[in-house]
Amino acid sequence: MTVLGATPAHASTGEAVNPWVALAYLLSGVFFILALRGLSSPATSRTGNRYGMIGMAIAMVTTLLTHDIANLVEILIAIAIGAIIGLVIARRIAMTAMPELVAAFHSLVGLAAVLVGWAAYLNPGAFGLLVPMDTIGTDYSLPMQIGAVSKVEMGLGIAIGAITFSGSVIAFLKLSGRMSGSPILLPARHVINLGTLAAIIVLTALFAMAAPAQTMPLIVGLTVLAFLIGFLLIIPIGGADMPVVVSMLNSYSGWAAAAMGFTLGNTAMIITGALVGSSGAILSYIMCRAMNRSFISVIAGGFGADDSGAGGGEAKEQRPYKQGSAQDAAFMLEQAEKVIIIPGYGMAVAQAQHALREMTDILEEKGVEVKFAIHPVAGRMPGHMNVLLAEASVDYDKVFELEDINSEFAQADVAFIIGANDVVNPAAKTDKSSPIYGMPVFDVDKARQVFFIKRSMGGVGYAGVDNDVFYMDQTMMLLADAKKMVEDIVKAMD
Ligand code: TAP
Repeated sequence: MTVLGATPAHASTGEAVNPWVALAYLLSGVFFILALRGLSSPATSRTGNRYGMIGMAIAMVTTLLTHDIANLVEILIAIAIGAIIGLVIARRIAMTAMPELVAAFHSLVGLAAVLVGWAAYLNPGAFGLLVPMDTIGTDYSLPMQIGAVSKVEMGLGIAIGAITFSGSVIAFLKLSGRMSGSPILLPARHVINLGTLAAIIVLTALFAMAAPAQTMPLIVGLTVLAFLIGFLLIIPIGGADMPVVVSMLNSYSGWAAAAMGFTLGNTAMIITGALVGSSGAILSYIMCRAMNRSFISVIAGGFGADDSGAGGGEAKEQRPYKQGSAQDAAFMLEQAEKVIIIPGYGMAVAQAQHALREMTDILEEKGVEVKFAIHPVAGRMPGHMNVLLAEASVDYDKVFELEDINSEFAQADVAFIIGANDVVNPAAKTDKSSPIYGMPVFDVDKARQVFFIKRSMGGVGYAGVDNDVFYMDQTMMLLADAKKMVEDIVKAMD
């Protein structure tokens, strides 16, 4: 395969830059930017997705039309197989399994970057990476070798790709419950991690400077170490901090693609990779702020590592609590002037959003003011609750972020907690030993009455810790499946 639309970096190979290819890749980049813009709100997310699909189609068709393809049929068959698998998974996947699916997909992006890097290393001529062996690389009468800059790009792409792959595999195993969510702490892990990272950087530099015959052990070494560091960075991270890890790996997968774009001289990959890398980094930063975590410690890996309680422990204490019925809740909701609903992961599990919308409509007809309070890490993926509420056609102007609504609990008659737990747990404010300590949470204790829907007193939230809200004077536990409970409340109000 020869690159016809090569960037100036590849012009050293003597190939011309094709302005139409550059323009088409730029156009696909514009569509990707529009896609990101669309995805920033549930109202425009479908359009955003369509823009993304158009951008990807332009990039793929341009690449296929402007390269000497060895076997187009093989490529089309591979695309068809991938598309069918993607379609089937997308149709079957439960919303609750999205985070682990995203982690699994990130691992594929990482692996692809490693494989492309290795393919370029093993067959550099096909990728336009060969330059003459003189010091400035211009004497074409000399034997050819891979240019030093290309080797740095290749080394970085393989290293970031391998880290993304192994880190995402661990994230997938933890999120899907195939591996314990508890942090696995190796002794002297920081020294091991820093040493491994330093070794990868040194190997990349040696690889870039080495003569062709000496490069193989160096690239093998850096690939193996990069796979290893991916595992090492993610296994110490506790379950409660996984959301940030997933968005961080998303960012890594983008940077891996961008590095490969440089190796291949493909501007579309550079633009797309940089967009994914930077938007993932911004999302990680926002989520770190939401969970009161240090961004730097996330990038370095191993944050939350001392959270020995994280990831699925049991609520141990037996304390008195009040339990109520759907009829009790219906009666008090109808008397209220202001109700704030806090949805969480349990609403997604029960698919209670449509019943909740019906309950909201009835309350509003009765003159009750109803608002929804969404925590940035409620559920199991960014925007999880927003997507479900949008699916049930809840008006966006009734949906508020944590910082915009938290002060209103003091004026609320009812805080209606449905399937949320960690995001209302006051231990985050008061208990330094808690795995969620430092995460901002809703001040539901300030509301006059709290309803707490969950299935049993035994079940805990994602972080695996008991919640004092269950035992407050003004709390009434509504123990049932969330959808069933809300349907019963609706019936009782009718
Ligand atoms: P959680 O703390 O996970 O609590 C879920 C609650 O829902 C539990 O109390 C559970 O109790 C209840 N529940 C489960 N199924 C139910 C059903 N069918 N009907 C009624 N209740 C049900 O949820 P949250 O408050 O949304 O917090 C999210 C947590 O997940 C945070 O710790 C966050 O860090 C973590 N996390 C978030 C993400 C993202 S990006 N959002 C990704 C991964 C992890 P029972 O079992 O007793 O019913």
